[in-house]
Amino acid sequence: MNSALQIGVVGCGYWGPNLVRNFDSLPSVNVAAVCDLDLGRLSHVLQRYSGLKGYQNFTDLLQHEALDAVVIATPVASHFKLAQAALYANKHVLLEKPMATSSEECETLIQLARKRGLVLMVGHTYLFSNAIQRVIEIVKSGELGELRYINSQRLSLGLFQKDVNVAWDLAPHDLSIIMAAVDDVPIVVNCQGNANVTPGVEDVVNLSLKFRNQTFATIQNSWLEPRKVRQLTFVGTQRTIIYDDLEPRDKVRIYDVRVDRPPHYDSFGDFQYAYHYGDTYIPRIEQSEPLRNLCENFVSCIQTGSQPLTCGQQGLDVIRVLEAASESLQNSGGAVPFSRRTPSRKTDSDFSVKPSLAGKEPVGAL
Ligand SMILES: NC(=O)c1ccc[n+]([C@@H]2O[C@H](COP(=O)([O-])OP(=O)(O)OC[C@H]3O[C@@H](n4cnc5c(N)ncnc54)[C@H](O)[C@@H]3O)[C@@H](O)[C@H]2O)c1
Repeated sequence: MNSALQIGVVGCGYWGPNLVRNFDSLPSVNVAAVCDLDLGRLSHVLQRYSGLKGYQNFTDLLQHEALDAVVIATPVASHFKLAQAALYANKHVLLEKPMATSSEECETLIQLARKRGLVLMVGHTYLFSNAIQRVIEIVKSGELGELRYINSQRLSLGLFQKDVNVAWDLAPHDLSIIMAAVDDVPIVVNCQGNANVTPGVEDVVNLSLKFRNQTFATIQNSWLEPRKVRQLTFVGTQRTIIYDDLEPRDKVRIYDVRVDRPPHYDSFGDFQYAYHYGDTYIPRIEQSEPLRNLCENFVSCIQTGSQPLTCGQQGLDVIRVLEAASESLQNSGGAVPFSRRTPSRKTDSDFSVKPSLAGKEPVGAL
């Protein structure tokens, strides 16, 4: 008998094959089947792995394969229906970012997974990067002093998405990292942007977030930049940390540099800012593929019943900020107050479950 965890991957486009490769490399996992509406993409993956079964229809995959878990890497418009069907079929679910198209969909999935005792994890890959984890650890330790601001730039000549704008496509990465570092959700969201190429689909956006502790964050996302930029800066009152994803090894640098206002001065002529130029250092960080770490976390949560690092609630927090950003975009960048029910970040186990979710699986095309 094969005791390995049986996994099916849905979506064999750009990202799905990376998930197949990583799950396939885990000793306790058997990638049993893949699914894609597009026969060409399906064949592309089937040719690379022996023993894999292929399906063009997700319902067939669920009916014919004895799977423990389903991994969903399709465009966001299909996330909710596919994940809901998988949860109703009692499969653990790893759902790519952005989790769904609305917060209502996310809440339904979280409640359904809780009700059925299933793992629901969201693919916020960057939180599984050792370098990003180190950045978050340093920010939280207070080593930077008080945070003055955060800036995240994710720019390149983009893989244009048809169903979502650049904020919904790229900002989930920035938002998941920033909210983990600040350990809170914002209280106000602003977003401005332009649709330059596809009418109605913004390909460049500037998002700004204000947090309860007065930390201010800006996020720039673009599919139009000729150069690729993946940089995240946390400026503190004592030090600054810069993460550069494109650096092959030394992704994190800490600058012991700051500027202070002198406490007092007698005349305007005496006034001088106090600049401090100290050392810059690079922490040693163990290299490993973030996506592999994510896949390992999913498997371990299924095996132990523990909560994923990127649980449904975190996916929901990101979607709620994106909804506020969309509202602000419609409103020429106006401030959208961001309310939530509880004062600090919740996890899936804090979610109350609606009894109605025990019911039958809704029918509809997948
Ligand atoms: N975590 C990350 O770092 C990361 C990186 C890239 C993409 N993603 C996410 O992965 C998802 C997929 O992105 P992509 O760039 O691979 O898209 P893609 O368009 O390249 O591939 C999606 C595939 O899903 C298939 N598909 C669509 N609906 C389907 C359905 N109902 N049943 C079966 N197959 C279906 C399509 O035929 C296509 O082959 C998106 O949610 C995206 O945001 C995550």
